Amino acid sequence: MSDIDNGIVYLNGEFLPAGEAKISVLDRGFIFGDGVYEVIPVYGGHLFRLPHHLQRLDHSLEGIHMANPLAHNHWQAVLEQLVELNGGGDQSLYLQVTRGVAKRDHGFPPDTEPTVFAMSNPISAVPESLREGIAAATVEDFRWKLCHIKAIALLPNILLRQQAVEAGAEEAIMLRDGFVTEGAASNVFIVNNGVVLTPPKSNLLLPGVTRDLVVELCQQNGLPCVEGAISEMQLKEADEIWLTSSSREIIPVTRLDGLPVGDGRPGRGWQQLIALYQQYKQAFREGRVT
Ligand code: PDD
Repeated sequence: MSDIDNGIVYLNGEFLPAGEAKISVLDRGFIFGDGVYEVIPVYGGHLFRLPHHLQRLDHSLEGIHMANPLAHNHWQAVLEQLVELNGGGDQSLYLQVTRGVAKRDHGFPPDTEPTVFAMSNPISAVPESLREGIAAATVEDFRWKLCHIKAIALLPNILLRQQAVEAGAEEAIMLRDGFVTEGAASNVFIVNNGVVLTPPKSNLLLPGVTRDLVVELCQQNGLPCVEGAISEMQLKEADEIWLTSSSREIIPVTRLDGLPVGDGRPGRGWQQLIALYQQYKQAFREGRVT
């Protein structure tokens, strides 16, 4: 068994080594990308913002006309057990629900059991190099119009990320009709004249759990924060750009399309927010916030 096969995973009611977990080649997740997923950070063995992730899972499943196969307390028990079986501590949990195994046909199959899968891998702290700032490239958002669903079919995001990588950047920032939607695997914030701005939630972007926490932290700490449209021009003239996600927290973008953002260094707004985020995480580890 190779290293990647060693962890314990959850598949349809069973906990077993990844190398022994098997699904049918007819699974609609494999054949059609017909499923949804979540990525949940785990700190000190505790699942970060679990209710928010489970609520988004409900919305994603609703968006693809599926019922949630497990109740929230059942999910919690399964995921907590999975984390424990993988050694606790800091981990990154991934869960996926697909429409299950059926003869290949585009229409929904009747009476098919969904496939429920989860895995968890240890994570180390976000690398310091990312916190020094990354390069991003703008790309045309050519995805569909249901981007609020956390769908496993990520081919557009993969192609757009690769486009950015080939332009010498680490993340793609997508523009649709001249306005920012999100990153290939992150949400976007800018700072202009001391005001934090992030696109409002809509069907054109994923409602990020980290995004919501950043908005909350701004509001709780009296930092002006607006949920409003960001034009391409505003993005290009921003004093700061940040990207948020469960796996990378808040990352400053210091180069956009080869040009420096602001003075080309992580800005004061980002420094404030990352400090507040770390404080919140610490409080969570200590059980002071849930
Ligand atoms: N992706 N937008 C997209 C398209 C994403 O894929 C993600 C996260 C986000 C940020 O959402 P959150 O803050 O809830 O992680 C926004 C995960 C981490 C992934 O696919 O690995």
